[in-house]
Amino acid sequence: MEKILINELTPEMKIIKTDKPWIKIAFLPQNSTFEEKVKLLKNYGVKEVYVKSNKRGVQFKPITSSFEAKFSEFIVSHPEDMEFSVNYYPTVEEVVQLQEMHSEAKKRTKALLEDARIGNTVNTSAGMDIVESFVDSCFKKPTLVASLSRLKDFDDYTFTHSLNVSVLSISLGKRLGMNTDELRILGIGALFHDIGKMKVPEHILNKPGKFTDEEFEIMKQHPLLGFELLKNDKLLPESSKKCILEHHERADGSGYPGRLEEKNISKPGKITSIVDVYDAMTSDRVYHKGMPAHDAIKLMFSWSGKHFNKVLVKFFVDIMGIYPTGTLVLLNSGELAIVYEINKNDPTRPLVLIISDSEKKKIEPFIFDLSKYNLVTQIYYKTIVSPIDPKPYNINPNEYIENFSKKAMGVLR
Ligand SMILES: [Fe+2]
Repeated sequence: MEKILINELTPEMKIIKTDKPWIKIAFLPQNSTFEEKVKLLKNYGVKEVYVKSNKRGVQFKPITSSFEAKFSEFIVSHPEDMEFSVNYYPTVEEVVQLQEMHSEAKKRTKALLEDARIGNTVNTSAGMDIVESFVDSCFKKPTLVASLSRLKDFDDYTFTHSLNVSVLSISLGKRLGMNTDELRILGIGALFHDIGKMKVPEHILNKPGKFTDEEFEIMKQHPLLGFELLKNDKLLPESSKKCILEHHERADGSGYPGRLEEKNISKPGKITSIVDVYDAMTSDRVYHKGMPAHDAIKLMFSWSGKHFNKVLVKFFVDIMGIYPTGTLVLLNSGELAIVYEINKNDPTRPLVLIISDSEKKKIEPFIFDLSKYNLVTQIYYKTIVSPIDPKPYNINPNEYIENFSKKAMGVLR
């Protein structure tokens, strides 16, 4: 982001905010010309604007990058695929319940994987219990299950990551139309995908910083080590074992350990590899900060075809949360909000209208930009936990939006 004088603005620059309260940007008439917008901003006393830039503000990124174009094109050309995102919204109570289930499941995953570290037999049937509860929820609350993966845990990375890869694989599998049995097979394989890491010396596994070539070679053995550990487990289906063995294979044959080409990688293997990379990139680690979801998705798009199956990546982007305008959402602050304007750069961080306090008591609505973050801590101020069913709250989102827009336009005039 770069701060420039309003007179330095050119049509291809994207205005993020102004030196005046940012809310005014949201109300710039969408169909007005660049000149009209600048005039309106000047009338409002704006002298400086913040614009999106890439290299220290020297070159400005055009408003429509190829990723954004591809993304909007996908949304427009696959309206039927949007159904998944809007067909069921849970209540706040259901969200809280599932969050508790996630945190309990994390403790159990940790215990299971630690068994492998100390050489005990891994209780795969206990793993199946964890997976079954999520498969069940996924049928009832698909959007919510995918959003659980935003619950990160810095201290217990390996365990949270294992659970999140399982939960996200189940969500993606469900999106692809898999049945309950297929989802169980996928979910349990994904839960144990990194179990081989329990056999990698801890000083390498938790090394803060880059691996040496030798250490990397040891790390690269974990799919095989994991497969070896569970290959004779009678309870674990063969397809689940593919998740362990194949999650680092890549469509172009550049992966490991088998350098398999796409046609030879199993579907569970492909799904786990996409989800694994996404969760790893977006998680905070000892040596790097997690990437924002939209940057990770952007990178995955650029790798699709080469590393990943393109169609699977598209479906994955879909389940990661596109909240249509008018969706009631619960924020991590406990407040209820309504999606006001989709943010094409990051569909998971739209502009929202906050309509309640953290106790769910209605307040005078105000606009909040979910892509805003603290520049010092790099942490987002607010994040969507889940879309919510508006009925129990007697909320008509469209009415809210209409009333608020009318008021705002009155202010502008
Ligand atoms: Fe792995």
